[in-house]
Amino acid sequence: MADLSALKSHAARLENVSLSELVAQGGSRDAALQFEAAGVSLDARKQRLDEAALGAFHALLEAADFEAKREALYKGAIVNTTEKRPAIHAAIRNPDLLTDQEFGEEVRMARISTRAFAATMKQMPILDGHPVKRVVNIGIGGSDLGPRFLYDALHKFGRKDVELKFVSNLDPADLEDAIEGADPLTTLFCVISKSFTTQETLMNARAAHAWLTSHLGKAGADARFAAATAAPQKAIAFGLDPSKVFAFAEGVGGRYSVWSAAGLCLDLVLGPDIMDRLLDGARAMDEHFASAPLAQNMPVAKAIIDVWNRALLGQNSRCVGAYASRLQMLPNYLQQLEMESLGKSVTHAGQPLGEHQGGQIVWGGRGSDVQHSFFQWLHQSTDRVPVDFIGLRSMTFSDDERAKALIANMVAQSAALMQGREGDDEQGQHRHMPGGRASSIVMLDELSPETVGALVALHEHKVFTEAVLYDLNPFDQWGVELGKELANSILSGDQSRFDPVTQDLLRQFNF
Ligand code: F6P
Repeated sequence: MADLSALKSHAARLENVSLSELVAQGGSRDAALQFEAAGVSLDARKQRLDEAALGAFHALLEAADFEAKREALYKGAIVNTTEKRPAIHAAIRNPDLLTDQEFGEEVRMARISTRAFAATMKQMPILDGHPVKRVVNIGIGGSDLGPRFLYDALHKFGRKDVELKFVSNLDPADLEDAIEGADPLTTLFCVISKSFTTQETLMNARAAHAWLTSHLGKAGADARFAAATAAPQKAIAFGLDPSKVFAFAEGVGGRYSVWSAAGLCLDLVLGPDIMDRLLDGARAMDEHFASAPLAQNMPVAKAIIDVWNRALLGQNSRCVGAYASRLQMLPNYLQQLEMESLGKSVTHAGQPLGEHQGGQIVWGGRGSDVQHSFFQWLHQSTDRVPVDFIGLRSMTFSDDERAKALIANMVAQSAALMQGREGDDEQGQHRHMPGGRASSIVMLDELSPETVGALVALHEHKVFTEAVLYDLNPFDQWGVELGKELANSILSGDQSRFDPVTQDLLRQFNF
């Protein structure tokens, strides 16, 4: 286990140093805190870190066998120890990495079949000669957030003749909104569920099927359903046409699944060229993560920063400000990726994690909108929360005054958080801003499939590196099970396992 206590002396040394003074050092500190890879840059100079602390983290990673663990991940070894599975999100971007080449071939074939299906749907014969004009993705968690974030970010690059809607929630209004104005003849539902047991997804799929059946009859409805799952037999038993059920491997984690057949809706609406570019970008980040020395490795640096702030400086949350409208779903996407992966309290061996260990709370929103909502709290609350600003370098060259102003706001916020301001005579301490608040700036060269793919891979590998530092399993999610089980008890009429208050609530809510 990586012993983070080795970092405590660095935290004691740095936690009360003026951040502005640290930043003013420049020189080799500047070089040690700036990173560049795959069309993405990370500027971490406004973090309360220096070369000595970074070096101590690198030593810790080496002692924790980081390189061997990274290689095991890429090769498809069992890294998800509690579920005894590999975690093949990087390997499915590049199946050559897999030790088991037969499995690599399966991964390649899986991609070919979803692509072929997308091409067929574009040429229209499957829907009785009707072109698909609306795709509705039904899925939740990783079967929703990955496709949703990527579509929101990249829809401008996609097909113009087909729109994509998402249904994840049990509120009937969610499906109602997704099919509003849709022509049943030209609507295709993609049911995405790794387990094919998820209540929300199966209930919504049944409701969607009933809607289509009421217009087109059962055969017409059946023709308008496709699925992606790691449990194809369950999808077929559910009533879906086997020729439109696309399988992916158990080793693809739900929150990492957008790279597999679970990204089916993106194949349909973004098309193969954009999907290839997305994969190219992610692969470029994979290669950087695999080969860059620790001191220049961006995902490693990002992990160090987040562990430093959380475990050593006691800041248990991180705000993500996406200063690009089309990246507005990034905080939601990262919430699942990071909080489901790192929201744990025991190590691989089942030992309790130390105080403040495990992942951060991730929250945020779209800049500059959030400056007019919760940024007040970031500047003047009694809590210190580090901020990640995410922007587009292309905007810095823009002739549009709004794009320039957006970047100016982003940089100004990072400066204001760090500089703070003394209270003046008139309003005294009410105007005082403490400053000393850390932030990083992540810039994509431009908004493109490549850079967005690299941004996702950056965060996936960052999470992996954090998990090595905390010595926890980032690939399971046992914490979500109990709530699901209790909801099923309620729906099946079994209230015996509930306390008196819960039973009273159930009576009030007509159960
Ligand atoms: O409830 C959490 C979770 O298990 C996530 O890990 C997963 O992405 C989501 O549910 C959906 O699961 P599935 O793809 O199996 O429907």
